[in-house]
Amino acid sequence: MSQSSAPSADKPFLRVLAGEAVWPPPVWLMRQAGRYLPEYLETRRTAGSFLDLCYNPELAVEVTLQPLRRYGFDAAILFSDILVIPHALGQDLAFRQGEGPVLDALKTEDDLAKLDVGRVLDHLRPVLETVGGLAKAIPDTTALIGFAGAPWTVATYMIEGGGSKDFAKTKAWAYGRPDLFERLIDTLVQATGDYLIAQIDAGAEAVQIFDTWAGALPEADFRRWVVAPIGRLTRRIQTERPGIPVIGFPRGAGLLYPDFVRDTGVTAVSLDTSLPCGWAAEAIQPLAVTQGNLDPIHVVVGGAALDAATDHVLKTLGGHRPHVFNLGHGIVPQTPPENVARLMDRVRNAPRPGSV
Ligand code: CP3
Repeated sequence: MSQSSAPSADKPFLRVLAGEAVWPPPVWLMRQAGRYLPEYLETRRTAGSFLDLCYNPELAVEVTLQPLRRYGFDAAILFSDILVIPHALGQDLAFRQGEGPVLDALKTEDDLAKLDVGRVLDHLRPVLETVGGLAKAIPDTTALIGFAGAPWTVATYMIEGGGSKDFAKTKAWAYGRPDLFERLIDTLVQATGDYLIAQIDAGAEAVQIFDTWAGALPEADFRRWVVAPIGRLTRRIQTERPGIPVIGFPRGAGLLYPDFVRDTGVTAVSLDTSLPCGWAAEAIQPLAVTQGNLDPIHVVVGGAALDAATDHVLKTLGGHRPHVFNLGHGIVPQTPPENVARLMDRVRNAPRPGSV
């Protein structure tokens, strides 16, 4: 059953998603669990491969909690990966050291027909078990975020067989065989919707949909392959699990961010690093709660430049409108952990904009 309830009064992250301007803003960081933490590397060594870690509820709970212990973030994000969906649909997947993900690329209509939505939740049972374990283990004031990749971004990995610079193969399907590509997107909307609802039922209090490669598409295709599928997912969650906030992350969407927000109906939107905060305050904050958008490289470099960049985000986006402090993309492995502590200090002790 759904565990949805009124936003807990003592979870600042959920209060902001419900539309309240909380000060100081709640903070969490995309990819907050991971290789920049020595304790993650240690757990990862005992787990075996990265995928073994994703499918080991006990260890996945542990690595999710590690950054909370150090920094007291306002939200925990389930430790998993966006590529468990293709894996659950039956596609071969491996993470090779230093190479990133490698998938057995979809090439033909037959490959598409083999994808099996029926086995997804069964395959992902360990991940749902991790969500359940986290719901019990996190502090009372911390919110639990579930997540999935957006259909477009996940489709790029499925068709390219891994990362890509130009998405040429995926675009060949999307532009040249939209009938086929639509079938893949429909499969992903179904599987991803089932998965997110199951995460909510296991205890996730909000969900984030990562569309990392949204910025690769021209306008008409952005509307068709980014906005429409995320809109379908959002409406399904709002209908079947009302009250659960949905955060969209259409990375690189630029001027199309406001249309993305309006046409998908997301509760909140994660702003990427390239988006000017002043523009976002005017064009996006009247439409939805915002999250973001410090450059992760500022956290690598640290020092006075990090302080100034943090203050800029706080001043332009925080204070009078509901905003969640975050990065504009995931934290990178070379980040010194002490710089994250410095950032947290700066956010937690920031004077409210407008107050003297
Ligand atoms: O802490 C968290 O944010 C939760 C965990 C999380 C991971 N991946 C763990 C991970 C989340 C939310 C993701 C999302 C994800 N995965 C995205 C979307 C967000 C983004 O960063 O753009 C994408 C595109 C992926 C796919 C993916 N996973 C790639 C391309 C790679 C290899 C590159 C890299 O960063 O290593 C991964 C691996 C991955 N996912 C790691 C982690 C901690 C590193 C694996 C390791 O420990 O060896």
